[in-house]
Amino acid sequence: MKVQNKVVVVTGGGNGMGRELVLALLSKGASVAAVDINASALEETRQLAGKNQDRLATYITNITDRAAVDALPGQVISRFGAVDGIINNAGVIQPFVRLKDLDYAAIDRVMNVNLYGTLYMTKAFLPHLLARPEAHITNISSMGGFLPVPGQTIYGATKAAVKLLTEGLSSELLGTNVKVTVVFPGAIGTNIAVNSGVMDSLQMKGGEGPLPKMLAPDKAARIILEGIENNRYRVLVGADARLMDAVYRLNPQRAARFIYNQMSALLPK
Ligand SMILES: NC(=O)c1ccc[n+]([C@@H]2O[C@H](COP(=O)([O-])OP(=O)(O)OC[C@H]3O[C@@H](n4cnc5c(N)ncnc54)[C@H](O)[C@@H]3O)[C@@H](O)[C@H]2O)c1
Repeated sequence: MKVQNKVVVVTGGGNGMGRELVLALLSKGASVAAVDINASALEETRQLAGKNQDRLATYITNITDRAAVDALPGQVISRFGAVDGIINNAGVIQPFVRLKDLDYAAIDRVMNVNLYGTLYMTKAFLPHLLARPEAHITNISSMGGFLPVPGQTIYGATKAAVKLLTEGLSSELLGTNVKVTVVFPGAIGTNIAVNSGVMDSLQMKGGEGPLPKMLAPDKAARIILEGIENNRYRVLVGADARLMDAVYRLNPQRAARFIYNQMSALLPK
């Protein structure tokens, strides 16, 4: 779906890839409803939008609050007259610990934001999207949604669920006006560990070897938008995601071992 003159909702629009998606959509001539739980981050995004602010509306909303999410389509439609697309981008990672040491509060949080937040948004907006001439749903999964990252097992499970949720939706919507894209970013240079409140759990605080090379979030946003504008079924973001997708298809166990060797320093001894 070409985004010019369309109305697109972006969750997690206050930081990282979500912010860059908001700014890139505005520059391409879309109107944007940016949703985030973090009011000051959303305000920063608004400032960065500069002269495009007149096409930006911000909504301080927790996507795990189903009633609040159900109220969003009405608010967006009364502001912009319609809604043509949603990008379910908001997400959190879990503390870097093994499953046996992860408590249920942390498990519920990551499940609620990554899986239920995406589900609530999708169900709330779908009837409105089906009523448009053309429409688009994009869900941000992760390289960790097909490849097991040690210390991110529940995060990975939520992202694998988002992958299948999106692929199932895509099949169910075949022949309709709604196109669907699932996105698998590799390592992107955002503050997701800080924003998710899990920095305390990180063992490797620098100085213990090179950090993996990360793609800048504005570059990631550009790749995602290109995927949306071409109605791609799936989008791999970054050389790491593309490589590991290929390795995983050839030999899933080897791919898992490779990532374990790269990442196991992040786990408690
Ligand atoms: N950074 C990476 O390396 C990476 C890799 C693969 C996938 N991803 C995924 O990409 C997406 C964006 O990640 P990012 O790195 O830009 O993260 P980020 O932390 O920079 O931004 C995420 C935003 O989501 C918001 N958010 C969190 N919980 C929310 C809630 N309950 N309701 C509303 N907003 C909420 C945060 O306030 C934040 O502004 C996430 O789904 C993440 O899992 C990130």
